[in-house]
Amino acid sequence: MNRIFSGVQPTGNLHLGNYLGAIRNWVRLQSEYECVFCIVDMHAITVWQDPQGLRDHTREVTAGMLAAGVDPARNVVFNQSQVPAHAELAWIFNCVARLGWLNRMTQFKEKAGKHRENASVGLYAYPNLMAADILAYRATHVPVGEDQKQHLELARDIAQKFNGDYGRDFFPLPEPLIFGAATRVMSLRDGTKKMSKSDESDYSRINMTDDADTIALKIRKAKTDLEPLPAEESGLEGRPEAANLVGIFAALADRTRQEVLTDFAGAQFSEFKKALTELAVATLGPMNAEMKRLLADPGHVDSVLRDGGRRARELSEPIMREVFDIVGFLRP
Ligand code: AMP
Ligand code: TRP
Repeated sequence: MNRIFSGVQPTGNLHLGNYLGAIRNWVRLQSEYECVFCIVDMHAITVWQDPQGLRDHTREVTAGMLAAGVDPARNVVFNQSQVPAHAELAWIFNCVARLGWLNRMTQFKEKAGKHRENASVGLYAYPNLMAADILAYRATHVPVGEDQKQHLELARDIAQKFNGDYGRDFFPLPEPLIFGAATRVMSLRDGTKKMSKSDESDYSRINMTDDADTIALKIRKAKTDLEPLPAEESGLEGRPEAANLVGIFAALADRTRQEVLTDFAGAQFSEFKKALTELAVATLGPMNAEMKRLLADPGHVDSVLRDGGRRARELSEPIMREVFDIVGFLRP
């Protein structure tokens, strides 16, 4: 049986990159697979989080997912810390994974930067917790962005070593579902940088909570060059900002870049930006309104998470019972 697991960190405003690169794909997968979607608050605290900020962001990310169309009745939607299996299995995986494997992880090197000695042990062990997230449900498929591919390979290595060490074919080797570079959304201020919640300029990103006027203003101010739009994709080479806006248009309209260029060949950016604003507002506007409605009722959001947590425990508990038995933990 195929089962999807995916996670998103509750660490700040959801933006268009999160929507086009992750959440929208989850919505599409929910009709084909059994899906478990997790807001990974335990991963979030690998770097400092203000407690009230963490609570707020957990609700915000949940509201964003629901507003984008993730159906909590059909899928399991919950925050990680509600389910003990994640921490329990992560500890076992800390004892399966090798130091040499973790030393190769590029995300740790990037996040720890020059202050490696000062990074939390949790940040180092982050990929083991991610492997535990997936394998506590014996998930077979994991939609992730390109940046998480290395962590997923590590999860496969851990599953394989566990199976080998204990002589049991217990964990599946989870497969990545990568949703192409087409959905890599870049900053509106610098087409060579990823759109990111950590960019200090709010004009670099479109947030899922931005209203129509803010979206229009940000697109109007988005950096471009002086040339009109080309007729062919090759004409976007060396024009990162133009390529990004065309890519965003294509992703929102569910068309190829070439189709978009065929329609807008020779157009000035002023005209193209108007069309892009209309499209962005039409897509994000209703989500934005729904997100606001949901955030005004945190009790409802909490009840969705509580129900998801209960169902996630029901799925993971029998798997963990088997894991404890395989490892030799006595449960008298
Ligand atoms: P993050 O906000 O970096 O924790 O990422 C959450 C999810 O959104 C991950 O699956 C990322 O791959 C995806 N994501 C984040 N930023 C972008 C972006 N600029 N373009 C496309 N996908 C993104
Ligand atoms: N590390 C992922 C990210 O930053 C989030 C994540 C945690 C995840 N656990 C996961 C993604 C399990 C997929 C599967 O985007």
